[in-house]
Amino acid sequence: MPVFNKLNIMNKEIITIIGSGYVGTTFGALLAAAGIKTYLVDLDEKKIETLKSGKSYFFEPYLDEFIKKGMDSGLLYPTMSYEEAFKDSTIAFSCVGTPDLPDGNVNLAYIYAAAEEATRNAKNDIIYVQKSTVPVGTGRSVLEKMKEIRSDIDITYISNPEFLREGSAMFDTMYPDRVVVGGDDKSSVERIIKIYEHVLEFSKTFNSLEDKYGSAFSTTSITETKYFETTIPSAELIKVSANAFLALKISFANSIATLSDKSGANVAEVMDGIGADKRIGRSFLYPGLGYGGGCFPKDVAGLQKSFENAGLTNPILDAAVEVNSNMPAYVLNKVKQELGELSDKNILLLGLAFKSGTSDCRKSPAIKLANLLVENGANISAFDPQVDREELKHEKLSESVNILAEVDEIPSVDIVIIATEWPEFKSLNWKNFKDNVSSGVIIDARNILNKKEIEKLGYKYLGVGI
Ligand code: UGA
Repeated sequence: MPVFNKLNIMNKEIITIIGSGYVGTTFGALLAAAGIKTYLVDLDEKKIETLKSGKSYFFEPYLDEFIKKGMDSGLLYPTMSYEEAFKDSTIAFSCVGTPDLPDGNVNLAYIYAAAEEATRNAKNDIIYVQKSTVPVGTGRSVLEKMKEIRSDIDITYISNPEFLREGSAMFDTMYPDRVVVGGDDKSSVERIIKIYEHVLEFSKTFNSLEDKYGSAFSTTSITETKYFETTIPSAELIKVSANAFLALKISFANSIATLSDKSGANVAEVMDGIGADKRIGRSFLYPGLGYGGGCFPKDVAGLQKSFENAGLTNPILDAAVEVNSNMPAYVLNKVKQELGELSDKNILLLGLAFKSGTSDCRKSPAIKLANLLVENGANISAFDPQVDREELKHEKLSESVNILAEVDEIPSVDIVIIATEWPEFKSLNWKNFKDNVSSGVIIDARNILNKKEIEKLGYKYLGVGI
């Protein structure tokens, strides 16, 4: 285990992570595993107790392994006490949630509360690093508030947005394609960059993952990390614009998919053709039910608000949102075209998470589709490899949806819909289910199956744009 011998390299920095969500937990576990003393503070007792037991409270591939390593090394300190978390720390990373408000603005209450706690509890000068996604302009105002609270210590502020994807959070944190560090104080910027350089050095030496877990950790998918030193507002805007731009790509692909359906084109072929142009790229051009999750919908709405608050408009964003919100209804219409009236029709929905590789169902288009089907009178059974009722608590899935524990238990249904791109659904033994599906139709709302192969089994296959 050569990597754990490097414990002294960063012994002058002690880090406090505020907020044990996807970003905070992943980053904190990695810092500790890389030999840096790291506190992880969160006010939720259940989360902290689970972390102390060496596990995560949410599903994220490979994360438990790193939490365990951090705990075993004695360098990861999950705690509910700000006082403990700041007793000797030199750098704080804010990774708290930024939920959206009904009017599209971002709720910054946790951002300010975390900054205030850090300021009041810091024992020494501190670098306060914002990893949470915040609207452009927030950082300068947070720093002002912090300085109003305390003038006896030196506080510097850095905007260091996070670009990890759920489902590959560990990989993305270990091997980021870019590290953006926005700040006014050169020496603080340099200290943050040093932390990353150390962690990335650690990640490079950590070569057991590919052997153990396969190609998800293939070193061939690792690109050289680029560092960007910017102003605070630039760093803030880089983060939300990146998410908004990816959302635009998805909505563009979805709108081309609707024309492909009408014209007989195959949208996958179209996207392969345009994505081969290096200036465009193939990624995020996969049509389907649309984007969901805790980031894209909220960040696009937040960016729209930033334009509005600045007296500007951005009609491209408005269009992307509209296309996206129409996708579940677009798929509903396909179902209606096949089954006619949906009252008392039995439908199997495969997938509830907003994408594969996660148990997260925030703003999942699969849930929106399930609810639309229920509103139209259908009886829905749903299966997701990671999502259970607990995960769905905040997501307003209709109570009438019957959640199946196993996909093998599928009852006889009239139609099957794939709503999340889980690889498990690709490798289902579709041959066995043929007689269970009375209409013989599979609606692949994520375009993951091979149309020709499915049709060979006797099904009628309908994708989105395929
Ligand atoms: C996204 C960004 O990709 C991350 O870089 C960023 O750090 C993160 O938000 C964040 O702000 O925290 P994530 O929300 O985990 O990450 O998920 P993505 O993999 O980007 O997928 C978002 C949604 O778009 C999913 O519902 C997915 O199914 C959908 N999608 C994605 C498509 O419909 N088509 C595509 O081609 C790609």
